[in-house]
Amino acid sequence: MRKFSVVLAALLVFGLMLGAAGCGGGDGGQESDEAEVPTEIVVGSDAAYAPMEYVEDGEVLGFDADLIRAIGEHVGIDVKVKHVDWDGIFAALESGDIDCIISSMTITEDRLKEVDFSDPYFEATQIIAVKEGSDIEGLVDLVGKPVGVQQNTTGHFAVEEVEGMDDGDIKKYPTTPDALINLTNGLVKAVVADAPVVFNYIKHNPEAGIVTVTDDFEVENYGIAIKKGRQGLVDKINEGLKLVKEDGTYDEIYEKYIGE
Ligand code: ARG
Repeated sequence: MRKFSVVLAALLVFGLMLGAAGCGGGDGGQESDEAEVPTEIVVGSDAAYAPMEYVEDGEVLGFDADLIRAIGEHVGIDVKVKHVDWDGIFAALESGDIDCIISSMTITEDRLKEVDFSDPYFEATQIIAVKEGSDIEGLVDLVGKPVGVQQNTTGHFAVEEVEGMDDGDIKKYPTTPDALINLTNGLVKAVVADAPVVFNYIKHNPEAGIVTVTDDFEVENYGIAIKKGRQGLVDKINEGLKLVKEDGTYDEIYEKYIGE
């Protein structure tokens, strides 16, 4: 019996020593957080944005969802993509509810103050959607008319910058399809939004009678947003993005969702 307790005590002491040395718990240092690369990430996407992100049978699909899953596969990170409303998407990143955002999010100066971005992965511009026969030929013609936008998107910001535009005429919707539906039913006279999503809407809703008008909009670059202070994850995502571009996976995904 006595021998047994001595062995037990020795084991206990040994165990305590292991615990204190932090064995099995990473290197425990403060500076490791920045560089740390998780083996599993949860990615948020406002999945009312076909063909870039949409929900089918409870799963988030689309260009962005396939891209981030492919990136994960190439660098050994298990990726879960979940829908998060655009309105709450930065808050979800901040709170740690999600590790990244892939949501056709344009890299902007203002956003760079709040979050980090991966390298750019997609180029797009804004476009003005109007009803057939509309006399709107460019941004200046929006003044004095109700214009729909998805709140807090670059389309919204572009309309705010139109000289003489009254904020009361800017109708802010939680999703881009909401804005386009209200153009279809005549509640707004135009919608300014990302071109790929507007073209997809027109393709799938030919009876809506929507056509597009351009202006000299800047080229925007989409990036994957990551909470500041996670450089290891940013680097890993950039590495994966480079790999999917190099081996043709990116082109396959592009072909599947965007085509020509
Ligand atoms: N590119 C625009 C922006 O960054 C709109 C993105 C909206 N994305 C979405 N999934 N609803 O502001």
